[in-house]
Amino acid sequence: MPNLIVTIDGPAGVGKSTMAKQLARELGIPYLDTGAMFRSIAWKLGEGSWDWDEARLESELAAFDYTLSGIGEDSILSLNGVVIGDEIRTEEVGMWASNVATLPVVRSFLKTAQQSLGERFSLVAEGRDMGTVIFPDAPHKFFLDASVDERAQRRFLQLQDMNKPADLEELKTQIARRDHQDRNRAVAPLKAADDATTVDTTDLDKQQVFEALVKGVKNNS
Ligand code: DC
Repeated sequence: MPNLIVTIDGPAGVGKSTMAKQLARELGIPYLDTGAMFRSIAWKLGEGSWDWDEARLESELAAFDYTLSGIGEDSILSLNGVVIGDEIRTEEVGMWASNVATLPVVRSFLKTAQQSLGERFSLVAEGRDMGTVIFPDAPHKFFLDASVDERAQRRFLQLQDMNKPADLEELKTQIARRDHQDRNRAVAPLKAADDATTVDTTDLDKQQVFEALVKGVKNNS
């Protein structure tokens, strides 16, 4: 039987990771946080790497190897054998990731890495282009959305939970800027796949979103 792939796309701070972990647990499969892959590249190569020439980026990326283990919220994504940790979870690194994510050479490298994980594992895969570009044949596709204010508020609470500095107004500006870049880049922009179910989560709590996803998967099985 082919692997089961469920895709969850949507803008920054909409709660994709939380839902992907929970849904993956429900289905007994790993979840793949593809934002963490872009973030880890940006983090490793550092600020300004998005201005490097293609050949240099390509040769650096050749040394990047991603592995995945575990199920549900216990899924572990590692880069070259080292678990990717919370150091990448700042809005600053999110913006760096958005910058490297505009580069065709980076997208093409990660497309291969993501699709090969999808060949090895059933996945709940979350990101920006899972349903449109990486897993266009996935049987279950979701697009989560919410207002910028709501997403900034959620990110604010998340950062507070991790004891990281957070300023709500600054987060709103950063998220809106990142949205704009992610939605308007030339390659694989953020958008809902034609056959995705869109869930506006602005006025829903986590349980309601989770139930909408589980219902979507069951209705379409
Ligand atoms: O989901 P996130 O905030 O961790 O993603 C960080 C950035 O990575 C996001 O602003 C754009 C980029 N990204 C992408 O272009 N495609 C993906 N599938 C996932 C993330």
